[in-house]
Amino acid sequence: MPAISFQSVSKTFQTARGPFQALDGVRFDVQKGEFFGLLGPNGAGKTTLISILAGLAKATSGSVLVHGVNVATQSAQARRMLGVVPQELVFDPFFNVREALKFQSGYFGVKHNDDWIDELLHSLGLTDKAHHNMRQLSGGMKRRMLVAQALVHRPPVIVLDEPTAGVDVELRQTLWQFIAKLNREGSTVLLTTHYLEEAEALCSRIAMLKNGKVVALDSTTELLKAASSNVLRFKLDTELPAALAAKARVTGRIVQFPANDALEIERYLAAVREAGLHAQDVEIRKADLEDVFLDVMHKSEEVKA
Ligand SMILES: Nc1ncnc2c1ncn2[C@@H]1O[C@H](COP(=O)(O)OP(=O)(O)OP(=O)(O)O)[C@@H](O)[C@H]1O
Ligand SMILES: [Mg+2]
Repeated sequence: MPAISFQSVSKTFQTARGPFQALDGVRFDVQKGEFFGLLGPNGAGKTTLISILAGLAKATSGSVLVHGVNVATQSAQARRMLGVVPQELVFDPFFNVREALKFQSGYFGVKHNDDWIDELLHSLGLTDKAHHNMRQLSGGMKRRMLVAQALVHRPPVIVLDEPTAGVDVELRQTLWQFIAKLNREGSTVLLTTHYLEEAEALCSRIAMLKNGKVVALDSTTELLKAASSNVLRFKLDTELPAALAAKARVTGRIVQFPANDALEIERYLAAVREAGLHAQDVEIRKADLEDVFLDVMHKSEEVKA
């Protein structure tokens, strides 16, 4: 039995400008014990899918099962198995950190879990904030608190919607170490993030969403294999000719060409030279998940056109 099963999930919002389809037949399973990545550009439908999983929104059609339990018809049972860290910062301003965690435990009928609360506070760097009112926390601390709240009832399935947005480098590392430990101990993790190097490092399987549809679904290793194997990267102070620019990824002065072999790399460098341009800081690197992501998003655009 999968940990999470999305079965042809579609969602249409009624808006002032008419119906808008945010999810279109999303279908995939996350197995127990997996560290699974859900990636996609802004507006792809990731949060909508997670809201349906969390029972906060209703699918227009299709269903979602958590450990075989339907989130729409057996919501209380499903909710106990889920720890969801929402993308939006929502919190109760009247509690301090420890009280909020105790309250949340009570909500799930969990008692005598002070040791676990201490461990959560420690692992998330919140120990010295335990008696602070929620209003007194900084943005990054509030996000850590959301993680603590989601985990307080020790759910077997952990869902993280952009948990590291606005969290500093050091704490991102601690947070990932902690989540990876819970995963090793058997928890299933579903993660959305725009930090693709985090996804590459952590997730064993990845689904990519675009315009509400799954456009890629595979193990991280296979996704990386499918991409162009190398990337030629250099800096340029002048503009590339249009014919070359069409094949490149340009970010300010940085130009990157996906390339499969040495011959292709040579051809690009020759073309740049022939255009009378001077490439600086030339390097060749292995393709990473960001290259794969851009590839997939670009290809699904061509299919649509
Ligand atoms: N309540 C709503 N009413 C109408 N449209 C909505 C509503 N919620 C989301 N949408 C639309 O559905 C689409 C998907 O939104 P969603 O928040 O799921 O994207 P996302 O993949 O989480 O993006 P991001 O990376 O920016 O968090 C967007 O076009 C959004 O504007
Ligand atoms: Mg979102």
